[in-house]
Amino acid sequence: MAEVEKDAHSGTDTTGYEWDGIKELDTPMPRWFLYAFCATILWSFAYWVAYPAWPSLSGYTKGVLGYSSRGALEEDLAAARRSRASWLVKFEKLSVAEIVKDPELLNYAMAGGRVIFAENCAPCHGSSGSGRPGYPVLADDDWLWGGTLEDIKTSIVYGIRSTHEDAKSSEMPSFAAGGEEGEGLSRKNLEVLADYVAALSQEGGDKKSKGWELFEENCSACHGEDGKGVQEMGAPNLTDGIWLYAEGRDAVIRQITSPRHGVMPSWLVRLDDVAIKQAAVYVHSLGGGK
Ligand code: HEC
Ligand code: HEC
Repeated sequence: MAEVEKDAHSGTDTTGYEWDGIKELDTPMPRWFLYAFCATILWSFAYWVAYPAWPSLSGYTKGVLGYSSRGALEEDLAAARRSRASWLVKFEKLSVAEIVKDPELLNYAMAGGRVIFAENCAPCHGSSGSGRPGYPVLADDDWLWGGTLEDIKTSIVYGIRSTHEDAKSSEMPSFAAGGEEGEGLSRKNLEVLADYVAALSQEGGDKKSKGWELFEENCSACHGEDGKGVQEMGAPNLTDGIWLYAEGRDAVIRQITSPRHGVMPSWLVRLDDVAIKQAAVYVHSLGGGK
């Protein structure tokens, strides 16, 4: 090993190693690096004392702060449970009308209602309540049984023509000629009436026509004199161009001679009170709520 000498160019000591005239400089470690290194060592000691660190035969060193990730998780869960409990209590106590007045509760209802709807209602009513033939659109303001928050909630709770004894249950009778329930309309009268009803949404009704006479006599008790529907009977508005089943004369004849009776299940056994309120708030918000 050669004797230590100073490098003439930089003034730094050399290590004494030399290859082909190139000498290795003995540059000292920068101070800042040394301090940072010492600081990390001190930090690790502090960490060992404060937090769980070393395994021992019977467990591990717990640290003076008493932290554990399991404990932190349990605390988070408890906090979530507490905040959910306070929502739940309010939801159980308040009516749907009161819930929508509180912006925070409304948010909570909408978020939950959207999920509940997608899981339970969308198979029949379409995603976002867009409806299908026989399954009413819930995103417009045309309601068979009423569009207030309470009406909607009642429809959900008891269902419509469901097996629940409090369900709304009015049914359109058959008017087929010789039919048992209805008056029985002759083929000719049936066609006149169907033409009248099919045209209601375009022309309104001519109160001097034969069609109106037949309508007034047979249908107005449920659908109203002007055909605008009666919600207590669940009888649809026939003048608005929105059809539960299908549009046109043939569809009207089909409904008069073999009426369908749409069934909406009661949700009382499947959803709890809170979920039903959330669903009602969500449906009400879809666009057509009154
Ligand atoms: C099995 C199919 C089915 C499912 C599932 C279903 N519904 Fe219905 N729902 C119907 C039918 C059919 C009607 C129309 C009944 C009628 O013809 O009067 C209806 C009517 C309604 C009405 C009344 C509409 C009006 O115009 O007055 C509301 C509100 C409603 N459903 C909400 C819901 C909600 C909320 C859910 C989910 C919790 C749901 N429905 C699930 C079939 C269903
Ligand atoms: C006892 C009450 C009642 C009477 C009377 C009645 N309806 Fe109805 N009508 C209903 C109900 C309820 C519905 C909805 C059926 C459903 O929700 O499944 C309906 C549905 C209809 C529909 C289907 C509407 C659509 O949007 O698809 C037509 C059309 C109709 N009625 C025409 C008539 C005509 C015409 C008469 C007279 C000959 C008549 N109804 C008499 C109760 C009645």
